[in-house]
Amino acid sequence: MTRDLVVIGLGYVGLPLAQEASRAGLAVTGLDVSAGVVDGLNAGRSHVDDLSDADISEMLERGFTATTDASVIADAHAVVICVPTPLTPEGGPDLGAVLGATRAIGEHLQPGQLIVLESTTYPGTTDDEVRPVLEAGGLAAGRDFHLAFSPERIDPGNPEFGMRNTPKVVGGHTEACTDAAADFYSRFVDTVVRARGTREAEMAKLLENTYRHINIALVNEMARFCYELDIDLWDVIAAAKSKPFGFQAFYPGPGVGGHCIPIDPNYLSYQVQAKLGYPFRFVELAQEINAGMPSYVVRRIQDVLNDQGKALRGSRILLLGVTYKPDIADQRESPAKPIAGELRDKGAQVEFHDPHVVSWRLGAESLACVDDLDSALDGADVVVLLQNHSDYDLPSITARAACLFDTRGATSGPKVVRL
Ligand SMILES: NC(=O)c1ccc[n+]([C@@H]2O[C@H](COP(=O)([O-])OP(=O)(O)OC[C@H]3O[C@@H](n4cnc5c(N)ncnc54)[C@H](O)[C@@H]3O)[C@@H](O)[C@H]2O)c1
Repeated sequence: MTRDLVVIGLGYVGLPLAQEASRAGLAVTGLDVSAGVVDGLNAGRSHVDDLSDADISEMLERGFTATTDASVIADAHAVVICVPTPLTPEGGPDLGAVLGATRAIGEHLQPGQLIVLESTTYPGTTDDEVRPVLEAGGLAAGRDFHLAFSPERIDPGNPEFGMRNTPKVVGGHTEACTDAAADFYSRFVDTVVRARGTREAEMAKLLENTYRHINIALVNEMARFCYELDIDLWDVIAAAKSKPFGFQAFYPGPGVGGHCIPIDPNYLSYQVQAKLGYPFRFVELAQEINAGMPSYVVRRIQDVLNDQGKALRGSRILLLGVTYKPDIADQRESPAKPIAGELRDKGAQVEFHDPHVVSWRLGAESLACVDDLDSALDGADVVVLLQNHSDYDLPSITARAACLFDTRGATSGPKVVRL
């Protein structure tokens, strides 16, 4: 076999994996169904936040190539699936891309290969959905080839923890499969953690994200009543987090976004409901609280205007930061969208500024980022800080704005109203 690794799905997850593996000296090929993605990468262009064009060029120099031709699979020691797992309109997991990638592997599967699923999904997917497709050609997992699940824990934009220094959990179909997966990842990840099996590894990922989802919901619910009680929740959290054990700080905000936190817990609650017939109550409550935050933010903006004797209809609202987290361009599931939609429905004139977003898709329309932040700040009735990008000079924004509604607890002063 001439390739160490074929990565299927060259997005936020697949590309950093391909990068780290090729840096460690592995011969890596990327496989994607999108000709646009493949052509861009082969021309040295990155389409994800965490990798620059220079990073892609460095990978190409090390021998990385991207292709749409699935026959490269037959030539690889290891194949890792990093394709999307969105939700269906009914709220269940859409395994279409995972099964598509699995069928492609099945057509080219060779004895001795290691197949790893990294896409986030519900427990049982590797064993009950992926394995039968792979075995349809007659080879058996654990006997003829190795099969494992390894959750991707990438945190886009995190300058401290990347692929190499974030421990990698692996769980195999058999112990020998776990060994094979652990050996493979040890070549470019500092610490490999062995789970008992594929289901435990799948569930570990969902526990991590459900934990975040629920704790964010906890502080979001507290933000509402702390406001009514005139208690500064950010100050409360700063005090509580001085405890060196048993507490982890989470912060309120305008809602949850991104590809993982608002979506992954659904895989679990869907499966619990479908298989066992009862709800995962914590997840449902957290969903309800977090999903209600954008409307709550709009109501609070309305109150801020009301205190000034103004109506929301006709007021100029400037939204600062529309991505789902700071310092990246990714807008997936960002709460900024429902907030802007509701503000517009109520007649507000909405503008936005974001150092990472040139044009913002709102329904059928594309809104351009304001050219001049200072004059937009001057003209707005309320400036709303939705995302605290580190490029923002908050003291000067606070000084300039007539009124700042701060959903991140990052500013203070007489003109500031916090969430
Ligand atoms: N983005 C994150 O921060 C993150 C973190 C942890 C886990 N995950 C999980 O990782 C998985 C991948 O997410 P992502 O953010 O990298 O997605 P992405 O949309 O950035 O990239 C996925 C890529 O897969 C390609 N693709 C789709 N179907 C394919 C197929 N059948 N064969 C080959 N390529 C195909 C797409 O063209 C795209 O380029 C998801 O399950 C996600 O839940 C994502």
